[in-house]
Amino acid sequence: MSDSTLHKATGKDLSRDLFLDDVVAGLTAQRKSLDPKYFYDETGSGLFGRITELPEYYITRTETEIMRAAAPDISAHCGDIRTIVEFGSGSGERSEILLSALDQASHYAPIDVSDELLQDTATVVQNAHPSIQVVPIVADFTSEILLPARLPRAWLGYFPGSTIGNFLPMAATRFLANARRMLGRHATMLIGVDLVKSVDRLEQAYDDSQGVTDAFNKNVLVRINNELGGTFDVQQFEHRAVFNKEQSRIEMHLVSKSDQFVEIDGTYRIRFRAGETIHTENSHKYTLDGFRALARQAGWSPVACWTDVNDDFSVHLLRGVAGPQHDLSDRERQ
Ligand code: TRP
Repeated sequence: MSDSTLHKATGKDLSRDLFLDDVVAGLTAQRKSLDPKYFYDETGSGLFGRITELPEYYITRTETEIMRAAAPDISAHCGDIRTIVEFGSGSGERSEILLSALDQASHYAPIDVSDELLQDTATVVQNAHPSIQVVPIVADFTSEILLPARLPRAWLGYFPGSTIGNFLPMAATRFLANARRMLGRHATMLIGVDLVKSVDRLEQAYDDSQGVTDAFNKNVLVRINNELGGTFDVQQFEHRAVFNKEQSRIEMHLVSKSDQFVEIDGTYRIRFRAGETIHTENSHKYTLDGFRALARQAGWSPVACWTDVNDDFSVHLLRGVAGPQHDLSDRERQ
């Protein structure tokens, strides 16, 4: 089964319509862009898995190393945690270290849009930790989700992988403020954040020598061809990853190698000039203080932070600041 949504009354494929609307809006804008969420079909998710194992892509392995070393510390800070809530749990492997470290935690609530991925995650976690109750939640973690009240408190939010960096800073603040409200009283959050470093290393991490990130980026064009009747000649586009210093972010683009037209759905005809780019992803890089300031703006107080020896990556522990503006349950009681 694909993830397409068939509308019962009309038999229309709603997810295809949404994909088409987004693609047409993005490619007819003054500055062309495509929403990064469309990277992740089965092929895209497989390619992303390969990215995490590349020598140039230090993020996943460094975060794992930090988590292993910090596990006893994290456990000491999180004695009150009974439920781990993971935002965008994906393949579910990332919570392993945390689940092993917090032995007083009894519940694990992975949130993901993909029902299928959640089922796999639930099975994997259940087999490794038979005493943990897994409560999968099918939802978009950027929306306001009412977590099941039966999950025992306190709740720890977990957001690894520097996925926070894929949001614009304003959206990152909004996400953190929303997570603060969702996690309620005694909210705690553990979050992986990639750090600013040399431009060479940053750009290589998103433009590897084996061309895996290149294929990952271009996969969105392949999807448009396969699912929306696109006529992209993928060879006529070049993968480019550049560090934008002003915005402190890696930007991924697909650059048109020639003046060309592409048709979509037999209806739209889109012109690409030579050198024109489609902006496909941002990955913001923070300083430790820069990220702490962002967290404070969203109602969190930074309590601890762990990094690797090279200061390549950071894991932050945040506590919710008490106060009516941040806590719906407190506001209701007043
Ligand atoms: N959040 C990670 C990062 O920014 C993973 C990621 C998202 C990514 N989109 C990507 C990695 C595109 C490589 C290419 O690094």
